[in-house]
Amino acid sequence: EKVVLAYSGGLDTSVIIPWLRERYGCRVIAYTADVGQNPKEFEGLEEKALKSGAEKLIIDDLRAELCTDYLFPMIQAGAVYEGKYLLGTSIARPLIAKKMMEAVAREGADAVSHGCTGKGNDQVRFELTFKAFNPKVRVLAPWREWNLRSREDCIAYAEERGIELDVKEKGIYSHDENIWHLSSEGGELEDPWTNAPRGVFGRILPPWEAPDEGAEIRIGFKKGVPVSIDDEPMDPVALLTHLNELGRTHGIGQVDIVENRLVGMKSRGVYETPGGTILYRAHREVESMVLDAETMHFKDSLAPKYAELIYNGRYFVPLREALDAFVRKTQENVTGETRLRLYKGNVVVLGRRSPYSLYREDFATFGADDVYDQSDAQGFINLFGLDIKVRSLMETEGSER
Ligand code: ARG
Ligand code: SIN
Repeated sequence: EKVVLAYSGGLDTSVIIPWLRERYGCRVIAYTADVGQNPKEFEGLEEKALKSGAEKLIIDDLRAELCTDYLFPMIQAGAVYEGKYLLGTSIARPLIAKKMMEAVAREGADAVSHGCTGKGNDQVRFELTFKAFNPKVRVLAPWREWNLRSREDCIAYAEERGIELDVKEKGIYSHDENIWHLSSEGGELEDPWTNAPRGVFGRILPPWEAPDEGAEIRIGFKKGVPVSIDDEPMDPVALLTHLNELGRTHGIGQVDIVENRLVGMKSRGVYETPGGTILYRAHREVESMVLDAETMHFKDSLAPKYAELIYNGRYFVPLREALDAFVRKTQENVTGETRLRLYKGNVVVLGRRSPYSLYREDFATFGADDVYDQSDAQGFINLFGLDIKVRSLMETEGSER
């Protein structure tokens, strides 16, 4: 048997390699997706994978695809889970799992494995995507099988087999990182009343340490896709990287949440999405100029559903594709620019413009105008409020006339 393992080089996946070999006698191919995590994660990664007993390490650069095909449609849909979480881990899983299945085919493997626990969402996200692309592949999920119960058990298991761990892997938090976000869960965060300690600010400065001046930027969009900053055209990865840096400096995009996991329990997480937070804001402003009210409100009503599909790992399903098709249609005129001030954790909107704007100053003005007849409003209000009037009459005078 040959298994492709989602490998990070962290504690869990380092232990999984020898475990798979001992338990199943299989050959292990380690697979690492470059989704924009800290480049330090890749230092010595291959050597480490081989030392732990993998036959080889595959590294796939998925950053551009993550931005273009996953993150940007998600921004356009306005998807936010439970009003706070910008879905940084959730959205990357289907892409990683899809690419793992491609590796399975290339390598002639017959199984896949991951280091997700049996208590979380990630196992579901990986495995629903595995099913979508190859329902016959065997899934080995060590956390649901072995009797290592904690990180301490894993450390002991690794040490018994002479696998070296650096200090960071012994750290208490569970992190997940990509170009969109950094998540932290576990450790003292498990008490939802406890402040996220200073050390949890991994990607941004705490807002109260950000510079007093703030910074002003302009973000340009073309058909709903961010394409430039301050007139400089940028490819998706460069643009998001640049916004992450700006967001970091100005303390933008930390969310502290108690969320409902798919598997039933509530969990507390701290997520940092600096560039993403800026992009959601900026995109919305251009949208507000060009979408008619009815389309916009209907689209808004779909956003929680889109977020739920992503969160629950139901990404490769007909409904998500249908929602994407709808959203794409709404983005045809979402071209323009938003001007923002980044200031101590805040994204302050300064202005927005679009060549397809439906905003008409001559209609909206509080000043004198000759395009809008204010006396038209009288009849409109009479008819629009007729039901309200009738009901009120019934309550005060009875329904007889
Ligand atoms: N709770 C978040 C989610 O479900 C973050 C999960 C982080 N995953 C991890 N393996 N550390 O999307
Ligand atoms: C895990 O359980 O592996 C991480 C947390 C989650 O997936 O929700």
